[in-house]
Amino acid sequence: MAQRELAFTVTPNEQPVPDAERDAILADPGFGQHFTDHMVDICWSERGGWHRPRVQAYGPISLDPAAAVLHYAQEIFEGLKAYRHADGSIWSFRPDANGRRLQRSAKRLALPELPVEYFVESIKQLIAVDGSWVPSAPETSLYLRPFMFAKEAFLGVRPAKKVNYYVIASPAGAYFTGGVTPVSIWLSTDYSRAGKGGTGAAKTGGNYASSLLPQAEAYEHGCAQVLFLDAQEATYIEELGGMNVVLVKRDGTLVTPESDSILEGITRDSILQLAQDRGHRVERRRVTIDEWREGVESGDIVEVFACGTAAVVTPIAQLKAKDFTVGDADAPAGELTMSLRQELTDIQYGRLPDRHGWMTRL
Ligand code: PLP
Ligand code: COI
Repeated sequence: MAQRELAFTVTPNEQPVPDAERDAILADPGFGQHFTDHMVDICWSERGGWHRPRVQAYGPISLDPAAAVLHYAQEIFEGLKAYRHADGSIWSFRPDANGRRLQRSAKRLALPELPVEYFVESIKQLIAVDGSWVPSAPETSLYLRPFMFAKEAFLGVRPAKKVNYYVIASPAGAYFTGGVTPVSIWLSTDYSRAGKGGTGAAKTGGNYASSLLPQAEAYEHGCAQVLFLDAQEATYIEELGGMNVVLVKRDGTLVTPESDSILEGITRDSILQLAQDRGHRVERRRVTIDEWREGVESGDIVEVFACGTAAVVTPIAQLKAKDFTVGDADAPAGELTMSLRQELTDIQYGRLPDRHGWMTRL
């Protein structure tokens, strides 16, 4: 079907959050607890393609109890942020990359692919009405959550012929309650996240649903996130419940798992680019759990960090498992970890030149 211009209808929220209340939220936003006044909603049908693009008041979505998403989890989402620069302007980081990843997720979940231009435009439309929700305190941003799901009501198992795409937004501070302090990670040995040929590379709700039980186990052991191994051999590291992982070797090489069952993180890709620009070697390859464990024990691995949109770059001090623990929970954050974090956030907040053309003005 030929792609046409999407002309958004904007219906302002008649009962927006009062300014004073919004300012109080922005002063201490937490993560994912408060939502802006509006949301984007675009319909898709097999016959009509993408249509009826709207910006409307944030509020409940009405669903038929037989809506396919409620039964067969045909759903995908994205996560990116809007940053306020010192001059007040609002920018997002590589939104086209999120748009392309949403398309890859859509393909895997048999959902329609939203054109990347519509994706970026949908974010611009939301910021045009909710720009005042982008906080300006250090390290804060507006987290944007585009998502798409099967709305058609039927109980047969097949791709839905009616789908909706939405964007909601939530002011955000640090994802972990301790801020940027090093965290401990729990190695899940009883559960895996995704198998070969499964949906691990897609950003789909089911991957997160299956991570909740092992994540609860991580909390029970005093850990902030759970680490998954490959499902077939339980030998190779994959990723955390909601973040990618990178190991730093003593010679400055950065090593990160390559696998077709993990999410290709945009933060990780960017951090590795910044490290490469500084002359660091970068290895994207299979990494065994023993390489992590023995590397920390022998001093060959000197830093480990988690990275993702919500977590930005978070140092990992310790890896705990049923039968071993490596690293010291009180160890300070790694130097390279923190300096790459600083460089990335300096670009995102407009404090450093955007030499890779990653920023898009909203
Ligand atoms: N892996 C998982 C499972 C995630 O949920 C995320 C977060 O989006 C990432 C990795 C990191 O991806 P990105 O850096 O694009 O946010
Ligand atoms: C993100 O970083 O955008 C995610 O989706 C991960 C989730 C833990 C919030």
